[in-house]
Amino acid sequence: IHMGTTRKLSMGNNGKLNGFEAKTPFLIGVSGGTASGKSTVCKRIMEKLGQVDKDHTERQVVCISQDSFYRDLTPSEKIKAEKGQFNFDHPDAFDNDLILQTLQDILAGKKCEIPVYDYKTNSIIPNQTTIIYPADVVLFEGILVFYFSNIRDLFHMKLFVDTDSETRLERRVPRDIKERGRDLDYVLNQYMNFVKPAFEEFCLPTKKFADVIIPRGADNTVAIDLIVQHIRDILSNHGRNVIEAESPMSRLDEAI
Ligand code: ADP
Ligand code: C5P
Ligand code: MG
Repeated sequence: IHMGTTRKLSMGNNGKLNGFEAKTPFLIGVSGGTASGKSTVCKRIMEKLGQVDKDHTERQVVCISQDSFYRDLTPSEKIKAEKGQFNFDHPDAFDNDLILQTLQDILAGKKCEIPVYDYKTNSIIPNQTTIIYPADVVLFEGILVFYFSNIRDLFHMKLFVDTDSETRLERRVPRDIKERGRDLDYVLNQYMNFVKPAFEEFCLPTKKFADVIIPRGADNTVAIDLIVQHIRDILSNHGRNVIEAESPMSRLDEAI
């Protein structure tokens, strides 16, 4: 909490937004293997904080998925992807420069635009973006959000959703068939050839960077409630810090 606060206070005049001081959001990274429940955990957090029914421009908490940052493929990579022969679980499958830039913009209190990704065509949807409005808390979830140190170091809090691999495979198969336009053969081959080995090589070793590990994912309501309460504390402090930031005492703090 204090890290976020200090950064905000030290922003000075750089972070002016619509005549107000732009706030540095509290940035939470959420990682874990495929189908561990990252997206579901983030959705639960958003629901419990009453954010889901709010207009996007009004949200205090926003959630962004690393999947929005899959890079566009070359024509030959695209053909490979259609046959299930492209490794979407490798760190290089993402536009990591855009991830870094976007998170830096978010931390600077800027409004950002992020790509919209389509798993069915394995590509970014042209001429379409999602606008991310400045918020107090930002969740960034994905399989490899803790892989590169320059991205990892931006998070104020790191969560790792830890669900056993049998359960993950059991959940990934129907999800990919229903929601991502795949057939059983494709999902199983991709899992065996790329998803499982890449999880072990790139994702699992980043678990050690987590501040909090959430066993059993979305089933773990106790862990989710603890995180929700922590975010509520951040939200109530955030308002207070803005007032403090404008007081002479805090300017004195800043000078020191
Ligand atoms: P991730 O984002 O980590 O890949 P998801 O949140 O998409 O994981 O979950 C994978 C699939 O499993 C989804 O279809 C989701 O609805 C389902 N799922 C997630 N958590 C649970 C749970 N606790 N119980 C049953 N199904 C779940
Ligand atoms: O939501 P989840 O964490 O499962 O999303 C990441 C997964 O999406 C990766 O394991 C990757 O194999 C899969 N993926 C895919 N096809 C794409 C992009 C990602 O199967 N075009
Ligand atoms: Mg997901």
